[in-house]
Amino acid sequence: VEPTYILAFESSCDETSVAVIENGTKILSNIVATQIASHQRFGGVVPEVASRHHIEQITKCTREALTEAGVTYEQLAGVAVTYGPGLVGSLLIGVTAAKIIAWAHHLPLIPVNHMAGHIYAARYVGEFTYPMMALLVSGGHTELVYMKAEHEYEIIGETRDDAVGEAYDKIGRVLGINYPAGKTVDEWAHQGQDTFKFPRAMVQEDNLDFSFSGLKSAFINTVHNAHQRGQALNKNDLAASFQAAVVDILGEKTMRALDQYPVKQLVLAGGVAANSGVRSRLEKDLAKFHPEVKLLLAPLKLCGDNAAMIGAAGYVNYQHGDRAGWDLNAVPGLSF
Ligand code: KG4
Ligand code: ZN
Repeated sequence: VEPTYILAFESSCDETSVAVIENGTKILSNIVATQIASHQRFGGVVPEVASRHHIEQITKCTREALTEAGVTYEQLAGVAVTYGPGLVGSLLIGVTAAKIIAWAHHLPLIPVNHMAGHIYAARYVGEFTYPMMALLVSGGHTELVYMKAEHEYEIIGETRDDAVGEAYDKIGRVLGINYPAGKTVDEWAHQGQDTFKFPRAMVQEDNLDFSFSGLKSAFINTVHNAHQRGQALNKNDLAASFQAAVVDILGEKTMRALDQYPVKQLVLAGGVAANSGVRSRLEKDLAKFHPEVKLLLAPLKLCGDNAAMIGAAGYVNYQHGDRAGWDLNAVPGLSF
């Protein structure tokens, strides 16, 4: 049987990425051009700067992805692309590149939801068995997604304000850490103690939603008040206290979701899935409360935005007959 090769594009935020995936499960190439350095001096992603970088990078990334994979355009079965959610200008570059290649080489154009892509990063560590739950934690999203079957997504809980990655980046800024701050806060947290006992919003509430803005404000107020008193606080303890609150919230709500929705697997994915505290908390909580549920942790290298995850999700969409027309547009607020 001839293998199915998918060429995948991801350009929803500040990473230009192109990958070639074999049969939805094998990464032949996954080129990621990050723009972080260009955005750091602004303290966050500048949409206009991001689009320009995508334009500059995308042709080069495509050529590299195909060369590294040793796959020609003629061998491809389809072209998968993230069309939302994300920054409209950024998304449009990937969508346009994918359309051009699909049109020129008479290939089907396969639309992919970026958040479904994040879930499929975990497909590279094991097969999915349904029903399944995913905890998606990224810079723009925090949601619990229930998958009754393949290709069926239902958001059963989400943040009512900030996404958890966004909260990490904002409190990291107060600590003097460059954007994106999550990884460094995580490292500092390991050297500190939870001495501040920040609030765990909504943890006791009988729903599956999240809130991180109160935690963020409590953190910022604590630092500012100390600053006004001329008092210096221990940065490691601040990081550890923030992370302890995040980990408690994510752990509690995910276990609550599993109490309500019996599943076979739990997937942790998205940029914040790289967080060591969240990873170990879910491992411990599952062992204790839901030992019947198998944990699939997205590989560290595939937690952040990349096209390999889009290719894996795209392969499933391809098999389900999802096809986009040449009028495919970017959908910045796309949901499941
Ligand atoms: O999924 P992602 O790469 O981009 C979006 O789609 O948003 O997620 C990026 C987010 C950033 O907010 C970054 O600070 C956070 O993931 N992040 C982390 C860690 N590594 C990345 N947050 C906490 N701990 C980490 N180790
Ligand atoms: Zn993402």
